[in-house]
Amino acid sequence: MVKIGSPPRKAAVVGWPVGHSLSPLIHATWAEREGRQVTYEAIPVAPDDASFRSAIEALIRDSYRGCNVTLPHKERALAIADEASAEARAAGAANMLTFGGRRVLADNSDIAGFAAALDERGVRPRRALILGAGGAARGVAIALKRLFGAHLIRVANRTSSRGRHLALLVDGEAIDWTEKDNALGDIDILVNTTSLGMTGQPPLDIDLSRLPRSAAVADIVYSPLETPLLAAARAKGATAIDGLSMLMHQAAFGYRAWLGSAAVVDADLRARLEGALKARNGE
Ligand code: ATR
Repeated sequence: MVKIGSPPRKAAVVGWPVGHSLSPLIHATWAEREGRQVTYEAIPVAPDDASFRSAIEALIRDSYRGCNVTLPHKERALAIADEASAEARAAGAANMLTFGGRRVLADNSDIAGFAAALDERGVRPRRALILGAGGAARGVAIALKRLFGAHLIRVANRTSSRGRHLALLVDGEAIDWTEKDNALGDIDILVNTTSLGMTGQPPLDIDLSRLPRSAAVADIVYSPLETPLLAAARAKGATAIDGLSMLMHQAAFGYRAWLGSAAVVDADLRARLEGALKARNGE
């Protein structure tokens, strides 16, 4: 029960840039639904260790319960923490910091958020191709390996050394970036973790003709919501999972940890976020 007169619970998302984050709207939607007064704002924090540390110290002083951490601070967030979950340690990155007294706990809900977005669609992949090998790819690879028990994880990355490094982490197989079209025939999920296909970025050049129709395609890009990759997947009858699903599901963990209990990912929340994206793009 909320005590009358108790101050609103506070959390935030820190990143650089962070002005376009949809996280404040997600948390405000959940708080409104359960009639709870909360504060959740997007705080820009310059991309250096000193700025990050002082921003976190300020949040702790101001009695914030925790914060989400987005690019480019996810590795710093893990480094600064006193304790970290097994997922955050495995990913080498954290997107959640929880403040308990003076102790900072790091967690990674990108991993469980990706898994929840797949679960919601009944997708339980065992053989995957991941495009990219950055932080987002690491989270996806760990989710596929640990939460779904995937026994084939292929990684295609422009810089082959990074691709090999990620493949090694999950007992996977690195393939050349130019070979990705030929590596689709025996997989049940393709995941794009690169920024290719995002508004303002180059397109993702991939031919899905070898992909089985029973496969799923997930794209972490959510602007545009329907990337050319997802449109191509849908056109051939494959299951398309967009970046908004993963974003909503990862946010639920932070909301429950810091602000309230009713963090439900549903069509109403999606409609609200899609509306915000459209307004932003002037549609
Ligand atoms: P994040 O932590 O969000 O995953 P990142 O570490 O910068 O961000 O990773 C971005 C991914 O997109 C990388 O796999 C990157 O490939 P490189 O390792 O070769 O840099 C990939 N990427 C970005 N731009 C690309 C492009 N134009 N063509 C192919 N891959 C690209």
